[in-house]
Amino acid sequence: MKKRLTRLMLLTVSILMIVTCGRGNYSDKPPVHLNPNMDSQKKYKAQSESNFFVDGATMRTPVEGTVARDELRADDAYYHGKNAAGELIASAPMVFTANMLKRGEERYDIYCSACHGINADGQGKILFYKYPIPPANFYDERIINLSDGHMFNAITAGWLNMPSLKAQVSVEDRWAIIGYLRSLQKN
Ligand code: HEC
Repeated sequence: MKKRLTRLMLLTVSILMIVTCGRGNYSDKPPVHLNPNMDSQKKYKAQSESNFFVDGATMRTPVEGTVARDELRADDAYYHGKNAAGELIASAPMVFTANMLKRGEERYDIYCSACHGINADGQGKILFYKYPIPPANFYDERIINLSDGHMFNAITAGWLNMPSLKAQVSVEDRWAIIGYLRSLQKN
């Protein structure tokens, strides 16, 4: 008798669970949220419209004349490869350490070698795909004689048929790559 009652109860509970859970059914109503706290509230989303600001945009521009933290790029030589007069500097504004050269080699292999060749001789894979303009050979007399500032500028802004790589290669890494290339040229 006791056994039958337990079975009956189990059956009822499982039927109730199946019926009430409504698995597989969709609902347009938001789920029950007993304690809303401040989970849902009005807010502006990036790039959205605003009828509060005069220009109708939610996103605000930085206050004029201010610079975000860590974004002051006052060092012309380091950040632009130029001196105060705006001329390209002859040599890098730092001494290349062994770590920097190692980093430069790694970054060169990733970002430059496809075009300029893993040996920096201008024989990159890209020639195989019939790239119409030969990438520079870093052992070329003319390239050896380029100033460090010019090399920095070529990576930053691109040069003739070479695209800019400033989005991929940080300022620090650009100098590291130049250091690495110079060390190759010396050998
Ligand atoms: C998509 C291919 C490509 C990549 C990637 C590339 N280059 Fe170039 N680079 C070229 C080509 C092509 C030229 C020759 C441009 C010309 O003369 O029109 C060139 C020229 C140069 C020159 C010579 C500029 C001059 O004054 O003649 C330097 C220096 C240089 N590249 C450095 C780099 C470095 C450093 C990297 C990696 C951070 C890099 N390049 C990545 C294609 C590339």
